[in-house]
Amino acid sequence: MAVDMQELVEDSVLLQCRVNETPCEEFIHPTTSLLDFLRENLLLTGTHMGCMTGHCGACTVMVDGSIVKSCITLAASVQRKKISTIEGLGEKESLHPVQAAFCEESGFQCAYCAPGMLLSTVELLNETPDPSDAEIRSALSGNLCRCTGYQSIVRAVRTAAKLYTADKETQE
Ligand code: FES
Ligand code: FES
Repeated sequence: MAVDMQELVEDSVLLQCRVNETPCEEFIHPTTSLLDFLRENLLLTGTHMGCMTGHCGACTVMVDGSIVKSCITLAASVQRKKISTIEGLGEKESLHPVQAAFCEESGFQCAYCAPGMLLSTVELLNETPDPSDAEIRSALSGNLCRCTGYQSIVRAVRTAAKLYTADKETQE
């Protein structure tokens, strides 16, 4: 079936943003969620699809440094903003300190919640470098984990706080 290009452009929004530091320009439907844009247009499938109602946190990404649930965020609303997904956090060979801490403390089992837990932890530590357990639990309250029972996650965030601070100090 022939595609009517005029109709396609009229039903579309030109989204320009940066994703993990890479400039990105794509025509999208105005109702496309940020989650679908990342997973389907950009093939960044590290951001997980869970409840699709804003409750589980599996789809968490950062927009200009603040976490959002991408399943309930319109892609069109991130026009000219900076998006960070789990793919941009660290490399296999050189893990981000928060990733290293979760590995060290067994903060995951199936890891379905991991992208959201990690990005929520990064936001927490950027704002509160030495959080109390209550602050950790509050910061992660929008991220559900069905496997770990949360004790190891809280421990991982405590370790992450030490590693992240040390990492920042060596970069200064
Ligand atoms: S998939 Fe977005 S909060 Fe669950
Ligand atoms: S490790 Fe399985 S959902 Fe968190």
